[in-house]
Amino acid sequence: MASSVAASPPLCVLLFLLSLRPHPTASYTSFVFGDSLVDTGNNNYLFTISKADSPPYGIDFAPSGGQPTGRFTNGRTIFDVIVQGLGDSSFPPPYLAPNASSSSTIFVGVNYASGASGILDETGSLFIERIPLGKQVQYFEETRDYLVGTLGENATGKFLRNAVFAIIAGSNDILNYLEPSIPLFEKTKLPPVALQDMMVSNLTLHLKHLHELGARKFVVVGVGPLGCIPYIRVIKLAADGRCSSAANQLIQGYNMKLSRRIQELNEEMGPETVFVYANSYDIVRELMQNYLRYGKCFST
Ligand SMILES: *[C@@H]1O[C@H](CO)[C@@H](O)[C@H](O)[C@H]1NC(C)=O
Ligand SMILES: *[C@@H]1O[C@H](CO)[C@@H](O)[C@H](O)[C@H]1NC(C)=O
Ligand SMILES: *[C@@H]1O[C@H](CO)[C@@H](O)[C@H](O)[C@H]1NC(C)=O
Repeated sequence: MASSVAASPPLCVLLFLLSLRPHPTASYTSFVFGDSLVDTGNNNYLFTISKADSPPYGIDFAPSGGQPTGRFTNGRTIFDVIVQGLGDSSFPPPYLAPNASSSSTIFVGVNYASGASGILDETGSLFIERIPLGKQVQYFEETRDYLVGTLGENATGKFLRNAVFAIIAGSNDILNYLEPSIPLFEKTKLPPVALQDMMVSNLTLHLKHLHELGARKFVVVGVGPLGCIPYIRVIKLAADGRCSSAANQLIQGYNMKLSRRIQELNEEMGPETVFVYANSYDIVRELMQNYLRYGKCFST
């Protein structure tokens, strides 16, 4: 991605993260949950067809010398961009990597994200193995147990209170819903409103569980304008060059419900807990509509 893009992502999120830094040179800890937008290699360890372990994935990723790492991108994930924007060059390792939970790396954080996964357990089943959000939270519990064993309960609580918990999930639940049903496995589809509500309520359960485990600083990212990706334009037969407005309306409705729920959680949980909603929809729409402002890689 062009550096001008790197400078523009969720400014409010960046400022929020900066405000959490104890000291300008200290690194901060992040625990990352979600899908292929932020997977940094967990799927390399799974039996799945959702893998990013071969070229050209990674060709622009300097830390690996252009080798694939399992990131579903040529370069950095949005979370890598934020981490580097903070001047911190160590990325949280994928949970399934052999030494993710070791005393030398654990203070950077851990990444639990898995390509093809969703908020709902069944999302992504066509890809065979993936780690649904609930399972990712279970893995975090194991990390927490490791920390308690190393630091003790009180210091672990303090450590987790200062860590950032980033959740970037929901895109695959929407994509699975929009896909045409496979005739033999046909299920009656929920109405769109029921899907939105189920996603928000299940995500809320996972956020509350993380809170019980000691998380206090959350960044929750909404779903981007998937009605504009080529795959959805094709299956929704969108007119030439247009986005699918039905898909984008479904997503905007979900994002609105999610951001409202996030606001309520802020009120329910009290001042020690902060949830930030990141509006990825408007950020990506802005990139698409005014791409010339953000460097030529978006203009072809
Ligand atoms: C994991 O540990 C091995 C041996 O201790 C080391 O060579 C390797 O670089 C480590 N991997 C990561 C991702 O830190
Ligand atoms: C979603 O949450 C409900 C409870 O609100 C639960 O019964 C259901 O199993 C969850 N579904 C998935 C797919 O995670
Ligand atoms: C942990 O914190 C509690 C409450 O502040 C305190 O009573 C207890 O002594 C602490 N335990 C250790 C091992 O420091």
